[in-house]
Amino acid sequence: MATDNVVWHKHEVNKVTRSEKLNQRPRVFWLTGLSGSGKSTLANLLEKKLHEKQKHTYLLDGDNVRHGLCGDLGFSDKDRVENIRRISEVAKLFVDSGTIVLTAFISPFKADRDYCRSLLEGTEFVEVFVDTPLEVCEQRDPKGLYKKARSGEIKDFTGIDSTYEAPESPEVHLTYQEEPAEQTAERLYTLLHEKGLV
Ligand code: ADX
Repeated sequence: MATDNVVWHKHEVNKVTRSEKLNQRPRVFWLTGLSGSGKSTLANLLEKKLHEKQKHTYLLDGDNVRHGLCGDLGFSDKDRVENIRRISEVAKLFVDSGTIVLTAFISPFKADRDYCRSLLEGTEFVEVFVDTPLEVCEQRDPKGLYKKARSGEIKDFTGIDSTYEAPESPEVHLTYQEEPAEQTAERLYTLLHEKGLV
């Protein structure tokens, strides 16, 4: 292992002291769902709401992270696993900094989402299943990618020719309703509030 001769250093300024300073409980709100399910939109609206409540937040978004940190990765199963592994490690560092993290990644594999959960403590990992049916995502097709996937122009597209493993027991299951995104975000906030997570 690359870490065989590396010893973890414990610092005196730590997660507890940083969180106390920020007056908040750091967490990861992990949004998972198909492309076009509304993850980024909802994460953005939820972050705005937390921001208004003076919370210190950071949003990690699939499309953006794939331009930088994960710019070398594609959409094979192997690359998706590595994508989520990197995001999980970054999310853990942000939690250590006291920050409330929101993530918006398809994260199609259960084992990878569970990996992030395993890195965190207690109720820090909050899995939010943005359960928008494939038909709706495909109809929205905000980036025209479903069309390309159907015509074979792009391969390994989630829901078409690449697997999505739906969460079995997410902390929050956000079912689909035809409504403005602001209303869905309100529903999400309420569900989180009821569980004492915001
Ligand atoms: S993940 O599977 O590794 O979690 P991620 O959330 O980072 O995926 O990226 C998904 C985004 O990349 C989609 O919203 C879409 O805009 C774009 N994309 C491009 N090609 C694909 C593909 N083959 N499958 C899914 N999304 C794709």
